[in-house]
Amino acid sequence: MPIIEMRNVAYRYPGSNRIAIRDINLKIEAGEYVVITGPSGCGKTTLCRCFNGLIPHFYGGDLEGEIYVVGLSVKDTPTSTLAQHVGMVFQDPESQLFLLTVEREIAFGPENLGLPREEIAARVEEALELIGIQHLRDRSPHELSGGEQQKVAIAACIAMKPKILVLDEPTANLDPRSAWDILHVLSDLRRKLDVTIVLVEHRLDMVVNHADRFIVMNEGRIILDGLPCEVLLNPMVANIGVGVPKVIRLYDELRKYNVNLNFVPLSSADFKRAVLEVLSR
Ligand SMILES: Nc1ncnc2c1ncn2[C@@H]1O[C@H](COP(=O)(O)OP(=O)(O)OP(=O)(O)O)[C@@H](O)[C@H]1O
Ligand SMILES: [Mg+2]
Repeated sequence: MPIIEMRNVAYRYPGSNRIAIRDINLKIEAGEYVVITGPSGCGKTTLCRCFNGLIPHFYGGDLEGEIYVVGLSVKDTPTSTLAQHVGMVFQDPESQLFLLTVEREIAFGPENLGLPREEIAARVEEALELIGIQHLRDRSPHELSGGEQQKVAIAACIAMKPKILVLDEPTANLDPRSAWDILHVLSDLRRKLDVTIVLVEHRLDMVVNHADRFIVMNEGRIILDGLPCEVLLNPMVANIGVGVPKVIRLYDELRKYNVNLNFVPLSSADFKRAVLEVLSR
């Protein structure tokens, strides 16, 4: 059974005469790392809100079709139950953190589940260690850098032991180095935990190596869904203004000059290797 399944989903926000997402048919399997991308306003955030039940329970509006998350019908399941399975991280880290220390922040979710004290302490330790932020435990979340805050927000989710982690442009406000750091934290989590990752991201050059699958949306619909290199080689991607990684653009350009590399490079190191292979043919 897929961990997320959407069947013929369409949604309109209350008071809006535009349909925000439509014709959504999507299955995500447990353990997948899926990147969702597409131009501004195409419906990425709206799609994410369906995974934790904010749509329809918080936003209202008109929701058609069926959404199942960990086998639960989102329409019939309260957000408090869904929150135990789906962790959400947003673009603006500061808006998600509100306690006095990092440790308290991470303990907050497990405390609300009413877990025993020792279990809470163990989960906080585990989350700090998994994300590599033990040194921040006594700091105030508000005096941290954006990248550090985003790590705390991820640790706070992980302490809930969610099956699915949904991150909506978590690197949007970060410099390239911190963004790289966050994306490595995610890959690391994926290796160490049995967690499904759904990441909305524009920095495709940084995630192309990490994700199993890319989904491209445009005007409320899913227009492409497949392996990252296959999706990125589709001319539709550049046509709608999504930034295709430079190495893939170069690969494509070279093909036009009949220089065929042996594989689609996903990084500059890959590209160098592929070019050297051609030169030594
Ligand atoms: N709370 C809301 N109320 C009404 N309409 C909304 C709301 N949130 C989003 N929309 C509309 O739904 C459509 C999809 O927006 P959404 O925020 O999902 O796009 P997005 O792909 O996440 O864009 P971005 O890349 O800018 O974050 C847009 O037309 C937007 O104006
Ligand atoms: Mg958005």
